Amino acid sequence: MTGPSHRLHRHLISIEDLDRDAIERILDRAESFDEVQGREIKKVPALRGRTVVNLFYEASTRTSSSFELAAKRLSADVVSIRSTGSSVEKGESLKDTVQTLSAYDPAAIVIRSPHVGAAQLVAGWTPAAVINAGDGKHEHPTQALLDLYTIRSKKGAIAGLHVVIIGDVLFSRVARSNIFGLLKLGARVTLVGPSTLVPRVFEKLGVTVSHKLDEVLPTADVVNLLRIQHERQRKEYFPGIGEYIRLFGLTKERGKKLKPDCLIMHPGPINRGVEIDSDLADGAQSVILDQVTNGLAIRMAVLYLCGGIATP
Ligand code: NCD
Repeated sequence: MTGPSHRLHRHLISIEDLDRDAIERILDRAESFDEVQGREIKKVPALRGRTVVNLFYEASTRTSSSFELAAKRLSADVVSIRSTGSSVEKGESLKDTVQTLSAYDPAAIVIRSPHVGAAQLVAGWTPAAVINAGDGKHEHPTQALLDLYTIRSKKGAIAGLHVVIIGDVLFSRVARSNIFGLLKLGARVTLVGPSTLVPRVFEKLGVTVSHKLDEVLPTADVVNLLRIQHERQRKEYFPGIGEYIRLFGLTKERGKKLKPDCLIMHPGPINRGVEIDSDLADGAQSVILDQVTNGLAIRMAVLYLCGGIATP
């Protein structure tokens, strides 16, 4: 029953692919794993004897540590490979790397890559379940799931909430996955940022686009700040740090415009003093560290549902 041909495989490539039920099933499963986090022994045997491979071709602190710990808490054997220090530096291709690691018969391969579509390609090269941990500016599904989970657990429900996503939407996979997930769960979404980074064309997805943060902030139930993705954009997209802070930074002054129960979110890493003031990032409305904690339960749920033998 454990041979590759008998295993139930389900990939997680994008939130766009999932329907509302599938998203809620993952959030509900995460809730049951959240309970495990409160125990003294934070480990369950769900993936005992199975292997999870983490393959990170791009910088990561939160996502890589979260997937590694999630796999360990499910009792899987974990192999974590970074492009620096591995044979990727010797010129080994992604396909050869994936096929080499697939020879260990992993239940799941987690992949982060700077290239759009990388996770989808990997799914064609391995019998393992493939989980997208970020493919260029395309999608970052587990980040959106942990964001949805955080909002749901703080607010009780997502439908009807007004969620404002601020910053570099154009180059952000976090924004894209969040937009799909939030709309599927019935939230109203407004995107705010410079017109170069938040073009009107996003309205085709069913969101509102605004370039005036001060008008939007007082109606927000949740604000989600994005880091400027300098590694992906050319200079002309960005107005300059001073100008950006003046128009789109969540400064202390702007923080006063928020409803008292508005949640402040950020996927990290934060540029303190740029997209968000330090006091607000560490303040009572911030759920930034809850997002990190919840990421663990979400990734346990995703690894369990994709990499386990039980029917989810
Ligand atoms: C995000 C990413 O890598 O897309 N970070 C994360 O996974 N927590 C956002 C970012 O790097 O700005």
